[in-house]
Formats: sequence, structure tokens, C-alpha cells
Amino acid sequence: MLSANKHAARVPYPESLRSIMSIRCAEQSRQWLSQWRGIAHGATPLRALPGLAARLGIAWLGVKDESQRSPLGSFKALGAPVALLRQVLRLHPGFEPEAVLAGRYAGTLKDYTVISATDGNHGRALAAAARDAGCRCVIVLHAQVSVERERAIADCGARIVRIAGNYDASVAEAARLAAAHGWQVVSDTSYEGYEDIPRDVMQGYGVIASELVEQADGAAGDPPYTHVFLQGGVGGLAAGIVSYLWEKYGARRPRFIVVEPVQADCLYQSALAGRPAGATGTVDSIMAGLACGEASPLAWRFLQDSVDDFMTITDDAAIEAMRTLAAGDCGDVPIVSGESGAAGLAGLLVLLRDRALAGAAGLNAASRALLISTEGATAPLVYEQCVGVPAASVLSRQQKWRASVDTAGISGCRAKTAC
Ligand SMILES: Cc1ncc(COP(=O)(O)O)c(C=O)c1O
Repeated sequence: MLSANKHAARVPYPESLRSIMSIRCAEQSRQWLSQWRGIAHGATPLRALPGLAARLGIAWLGVKDESQRSPLGSFKALGAPVALLRQVLRLHPGFEPEAVLAGRYAGTLKDYTVISATDGNHGRALAAAARDAGCRCVIVLHAQVSVERERAIADCGARIVRIAGNYDASVAEAARLAAAHGWQVVSDTSYEGYEDIPRDVMQGYGVIASELVEQADGAAGDPPYTHVFLQGGVGGLAAGIVSYLWEKYGARRPRFIVVEPVQADCLYQSALAGRPAGATGTVDSIMAGLACGEASPLAWRFLQDSVDDFMTITDDAAIEAMRTLAAGDCGDVPIVSGESGAAGLAGLLVLLRDRALAGAAGLNAASRALLISTEGATAPLVYEQCVGVPAASVLSRQQKWRASVDTAGISGCRAKTAC
């Protein structure tokens, strides 16, 4: 389903939003995070898929590959660590920012406890950051979070609390435990009276946009893509990227399309209601990172006037997109993209398959679409079930592809895209 947002405006980035999230703060986050051993040095790759673009009948298709962001396997490595760092600086303004995640203040922080509910990726990033800073971490998991995701978080040193309910119930339980024990909630979603930390999390995601702008050779004029597909959970990722690109390109910003699972359509419903709203479905999707029942009110403030279209997809569409990226058809590079990571491509495929939908989303032969693959195989067994082969075999084909391009040089690379 696709819904055009009648509030979407092409205006300069409003001052009221710049005072909450800005390019300046995203750049500061990038500088601080660059010192953390938990993420890769340098930008994640922006991979062009000329073969798939040609097959789909659009001018250009690119994927920012966040599986390469960190050993944690997702873009979430940018959010919780920045939020923890900024929270520590609020408590200890004299600390040197770059030294916090290096553990220099572990002695002071050893009795400080952070807690969060999570569907997996946020909790893993928070646990890794807390471990490196030297504080304690408790993670509340809802019933649908897989055991392999639980193990990955526990391996980062967090204490796990498992509850029977869904994601929203785990958010409530984390708040209850924090109040009872004097712990600090570090959540990626906002609620009334709780906005500073989720803002810092979203600001961390702006690092992706900062790199994208650099990868476009710092283009001063129009953005190099006409459409940006952003998968939505509570809306934080989309808000972090939209905020940066809106401030950068102003009224010439690209068209933003938010994609969600049909069972967890809280942003789609927010667009219909004109305010943050809850999902209408079961909130139980294979896209674990997007299985959220309530939109983040703070994120919604950035999305309500900037996202041009909201759409929903099925789990099957996400699996098809994972397979398409893994296959690297038509001479394109194979990419490991997890269930939530491939949702943007799933949205694009759904739209391009239907002439009316493509027209409604302004997609045509001149379109240049940007996708952000927000995770790799963060749940390896689920990945293998969905794609039919383990992530390692896709990665090995990716390495071979890169070696063949290196050997063939640029003309060989062009030849590979003919399909
Ligand atoms: C891989 C992945 N992609 C996208 C999202 C959506 O992010 P948000 O909840 O900030 O909208 C998540 C959230 O956990 C995620 O794990």
C-alpha cells in the first residue's frame, strides 16, 4: 500500500528542527565515533547496481551497505554509542569525548547502569558501547527476538531480561526496571518527557547521510538521487537521514519514501492520522528491526512534513529483496542484506511492478534511487532460511566479484553491467 503525504513540503529546513538535529551535531558525532574501536574506520560502501537498475528501467540504483559498519552488522552501531557518550558527558562535562568509549573513565562509570528494550540491533550496539565505556548494561527482549540475537547481545556483556509480550511491552518493562533501580534508559524511541537520548541516537544515524554527501563528491547543487527509500521502525533512522539531507539540500531535497512491514505500519498510520499513531497489525514481522507498534513522537516531527510517501510491504517482499541483493544478478555486486536491511529495495520493487504505483511515486526512466541496506546477516540462521544460502557464501561471491572488477579494470566493469 502507498499513501502520498499531503503535508510533505519542499521548503528550506526549518529552524525549529535545526535546533533539535543539525548537520553540525551529526558531524560532531561522526568525529567522536571515529575513535571508537567498535566501528569500521572510513565510510561504508555505496554500491552501484547498474544491472538491476537497467532491468527495472530506472537510471541509477545505489545501496549504502551498512553491513560493513561494524562487527555488530548494522547501522545501529552509530546510534546507541553516541547517545551513551553524550549522556556520560551530560553527567561529567569535564570528560574528554573521544576517551569515553576507549574506557578511560571506566573506574568512574563502573556502577553506572544503562538499560534498553530492543529488537536486537539497538541492544547489541548499546551493550558493546557500555562494555567499552566500562559501565553496566541490561537489555530487555520481547518474545519474538530470536535466541541467536539474544546470544549476540549477551556476548557483548549485557544482562538479558526476557519478557513474554511484544516490543512495546519491553519498552514499558525497561522503563519500570529503570525507575525501580535508578538505572538510565537509553532508548531509540521517544515518549513524553523523554527526548534527549532518542534525539542523540537519531543524530548518530546522521553519520550515514554525512558519508553519502561526501560520496557524492560533496555536490553543492542538486542531490545525486531523485528518490531515497528509508525503512521505518519507530522512525528514528528515517528522521536522522531526512534531517541531514533536508538541511543540506533544502527545497531541492530528494523524494523520501518510508517503507514498513504491513503488520507494523505505525508511521503509515501516523501519516493518515496527522500525528504519531500505533500500528494496526500484529507487529510481528520477519523484519525484526521494523516490528514496532508505536511511532517515536520526536522522529515524527521530522517526518511529518518531509516524507513524500509512506508504504507498507509484506514479509515475502522483503525476502525477495534479500535474495535479489544476494544474487547480484546482471553483473552487479552480491550484497548481504538482512530482513530489515532489504526493506527499501522491497518497496522499490513493489512500486515498479505496478505502473500506477510507480507513477504515483514519480518513478520513471530518469529516476535515481538510493537504498540503505541497514543490516547484514544479523540473525545468520534466519538469513540462511530466507536466502537459501549462508551469508558467508554471498560474501565469498562478493569478494570474487570485486577481484574480477579489479582485474578487468573499468572497461570490464562496464561490460559486466550489460544484462
Ligand atoms: C536493521 C534495521 N533497519 C531499520 C531499523 C529501523 O530504525 P528505526 O526504529 O529507528 O525506524 C531498525 C531498527 O531497529 C533496524 O534494526
